[in-house]
This record gives sequence, structure tokens and C-alpha cells, in this order.
Amino acid sequence: MAQEDIFKKIIAHSKEYGFIFQSSEIYDGLSAVYDYGQYGAELKNNIKKYWWDSMVKLHENIVGIDSAIFMHPTVWKASGHVGAFNDPLIDNKDSKKRYRADVLIEEYMAKIEAKIQKEVDKAASKYGDSFDEEQFKSTNQRVLENVQKYNEVKNRFVKALENDDLADLKAIIEEAEIVCPISGSKNWTDVRQFNLMFETQLGSVSEDASSIYLRPETAQGIFVNYLNVQKTGRMKIPFGIAQIGKAFRNEIVARQFIFRMREFEQMEMQFFVRPGEEMKWFEEWKAIRLKWHHAMGFDTNKYRYHDHDKLAHYANAATDIEFEFPFGFKELEGIHSRTDFDLSQHQEYCGKKIQYFDPELNKNYVPYVVETSVGLDRTFLAILSTSYTEETVEQENGKTDERVVLKIPAFLAPVKVAILPLLKKDGLPEKAREILNDLKFDMNCIYEEKDSIGKRYRRQDAIGTPFCVTIDHDSLESNTVTLRDRDTMEQQRIPIEKLKEIVNDKISYANIFKKIC
Ligand code: GAP
Repeated sequence: MAQEDIFKKIIAHSKEYGFIFQSSEIYDGLSAVYDYGQYGAELKNNIKKYWWDSMVKLHENIVGIDSAIFMHPTVWKASGHVGAFNDPLIDNKDSKKRYRADVLIEEYMAKIEAKIQKEVDKAASKYGDSFDEEQFKSTNQRVLENVQKYNEVKNRFVKALENDDLADLKAIIEEAEIVCPISGSKNWTDVRQFNLMFETQLGSVSEDASSIYLRPETAQGIFVNYLNVQKTGRMKIPFGIAQIGKAFRNEIVARQFIFRMREFEQMEMQFFVRPGEEMKWFEEWKAIRLKWHHAMGFDTNKYRYHDHDKLAHYANAATDIEFEFPFGFKELEGIHSRTDFDLSQHQEYCGKKIQYFDPELNKNYVPYVVETSVGLDRTFLAILSTSYTEETVEQENGKTDERVVLKIPAFLAPVKVAILPLLKKDGLPEKAREILNDLKFDMNCIYEEKDSIGKRYRRQDAIGTPFCVTIDHDSLESNTVTLRDRDTMEQQRIPIEKLKEIVNDKISYANIFKKIC
């Protein structure tokens, strides 16, 4: 099945089973804004816990804060967001649709890359084991032409971005004959800069009101609290401050479901280091963060690093951890060496010293910063899309059945255990509730007695519940239950007294953390 169709199914599934709803759906929705439903909110909370604990619990020198969304407007002048947090936009005059000029060019480059890969794949399957990819790429005429085309566009594109040369961005689009996907025309406006911050008013009377912004990143809430935390926590460099919270961006191209939203959540950590040591820490944090992603247990080939060609105004090195979403490899997390840019800027704009006295060096300095910044919603999408599995299941009577199962890592699953009395009578519900009342203090459980047991299993598979516990007549006699595993569908009979221990071991965060320490 085409990836596009699978993605549509994932979106439909997440709505049908209470993970994600379009915001204000009864009023026809609000573009690129989403609400998390009953299972979505649980999964999101579990991801947050995984990230928060991996930062704050596992590192003695990292603490967490929760700063306000509203901040003094000067923060955004100092950070550079008022002047430079822009995307280059272009309109198609026929369809009246607005695009990001850089995205149009990147998509064009991705198409050239795909053409090169197609030639390589074709030759690889033709020549089998004797295929030499390097030799093929350096001699095949079509590949050479496409590589040259790709490099020419890329070099020019990077230069245009570096120089803010909007006229050249338009020229690249025109010369590459990029068409609007809606109208199919090449009738483009000039490229203009568009600031992504949402502006609003603080104050009850409009004359007294002053303009403020909804924060476009959580990081600045950390920088403006650097001194507070360093002093009150008696933190010694190197140390980190972590934060999870909402961020807002008026994205021009808001699509691909929760991949690019106008209101989203970030999990960010700023690590303050000695000037000159930032590259060592940058490499360290790249490795730590990739390990965190890998520990969830998905195919490690789905993750890759992507070094930035164009560095943001504040960075001297930057890498993305990309994930293979159903629509291709895209940014999941950014790791940036932000130098002393932010703290120095705030020092200048607020007129107060923001420095650290290093007792070992016996001097004051503005610390350098290595940032890790991962999108909560993108992590959610990575988990959801990779967990979504359609399977054909052999039944005992020889017939086959289809099931959709979310193979969410057990420790992150919204519901850990479904408690299912086989019948609604004979004392089975009472026994089942006894078990529920014991487990509910340790984990999120569901109790269900409606429908056949098969239907109930399918419903739990669809929301990713790793374990189903079935209570039957034998349970009353022998104090045992059947424990069904979501992924293998195998069932084992176990004593009720062992249930909590067995499940706790499978859903434990500690077991995952041991892999990354
Ligand atoms: N403080 C640095 C910063 O904000 P960024 O690369 O712009 O860097 C960090 O954003 C992460 O936030 C991204 O890797 C992505 O996961 C997430 N993110 C950014 N914009 C987003 C959007 N519009 N919707 C959902 N997630 C987004």
C-alpha cells in the first residue's frame, strides 16, 4: 500500500479511537490545530514522563522548570525573533495558495534525489551481488547529470538563504519550472519574508494594552531564568535546565497532520558549558539523544542525523535527528550549539550581568549553550505511525481475520491492562473488579464486559493495550487468569498474585532507562 494511503489510515484511526481530534471540529475545525483525546492525552503524558525523567532524574546536573508562555516583549527582540524569525513565502497568483519558497525548492531537490536513487535501485536489482554502487554513480550518464543538477541547485539555494536573497529564491523556483500543486501554473509572486510569531495584547483596555507574543519556542523561558536557577539551585557548570511546554508559530505551510502545527509542544533542554567546550558537549548530546530515541525499540534505520547547511542566527553547529515518517525522513529533534548568543543578548537588552563565576578557572564568563529540542507532537506521530500495523490473523476454525494493532512500546501505551470478565455473570465481574482495584494504583487499566471476548481483544489491539487479562470460571476456582500479549496474541495462564509483578516488569520505565545510562 502506498505510504500516502497508510498515512490517511493512521489519521482516520487516531480519530476513531480517541487519540487526536481536529480542534473545534463541530465548527468545521481550525487549520493545523489539534486536540488530544482520551488515549492521545495518556500517550502524550507518557512520552513527557519518558523525556522529563531521562533528563531530570538521570542527570544530577539537570533540573526542570515551567516558565510562562507570556514573556516581556523585549525577550523576543533580544533573542532575534522579532527581526529574524521569518519564513520566505511565495503566492501562486492563480490558485491564491501560499507556500514556503524554501520548502518548494527542497521538495524539488528531493525529487532529483529520488530519481538518482531510482536509477541506483534499478541497476542494483539488475546486477545483483556484483553491483558496485560507487562505480555506477560515477559512470552512469543519467545519474551524473542529476547529481550535477542537484549540486547546482543546492549551492545556489544555500547561498540565497545565507544572503537573504529573496529575488534569487524566486529565480531558482522559476528556472526549475516548479509549478503550484493546485493550479499547475508557474505564475508566482515575488518572495517575501513573513514573521511566524503570533502577536496579541496584554491589558484590559485597548489604549493601555501593549503588544506581546505567544512564545515560538520554550527555550527563552529557560534563558531568562538562567540566573534564578543557577543561584537558587547552586548549580555548577556544566549544568542543564529542562522544560516542556507549548509553543506557537503561524506556520505558512501547516500540513501533514500533527507534524507541522500552529500550536504545539516542545521538550527542550539548555545545557550551559564553559566557552570552548561546546563542541565536545554538542557531540555528547547528539549521542545521548539518539540513544533515547532508539531505546523505544523501533527499527534504528528509521533515525538519522542531518547536519544543517544553513545555521540559525544563534548557532555555530546544528544537527537534526530525522525520523522516517510515512511522508519521508523529516526533522524530529534539533540539537544546536547556540554559543553565548542568547545569554549575551539578554545581558545587553536587560542591562544586568548574566554570567557565571567559574571557581576552577577563577574567572567570570557568559556560559555557552548546547540545546536539545524535540517536538512532543512529532515524537507522538513517530510512535503512532510506526506502531500502526495491519495484520491477517489465522483463526482456530481455519478462517482468517484482519486486525489493526498499535504496537506502541508497552511503557508508553495509554492503557497498560484491559480487565475482561468472560461473562457478565457467575461472579466473574466481581472477581475482575477485585483485580482492577488492586492494579489501578500502579497502572492505567480499563474494565470491559460488553461484547464477545474476540471483539474486546480487537478494540484493545486498536488502542495499543499491551496486555489483556481474562477472568473465567477457572479463575474463581484456581485464582488464575489468562494473560494475553498484544503483539504475539499468545495467552498464558498465570496466578493472580503474579500478575502485577509480570506486567510491571514489562511496562517499567526503569528497564528502558537502564538501556540509556
Ligand atoms: N529552541 C529551538 C527550536 O525551537 P526548532 O528546530 O525550530 O528549534 C525544535 O524546533 C523542534 O520543535 C523541532 O525539531 C520539531 O520537533 C518541533 N517543531 C517545530 N515547529 C513545529 C511545528 N510547527 N509543529 C510541530 N512541531 C514543531
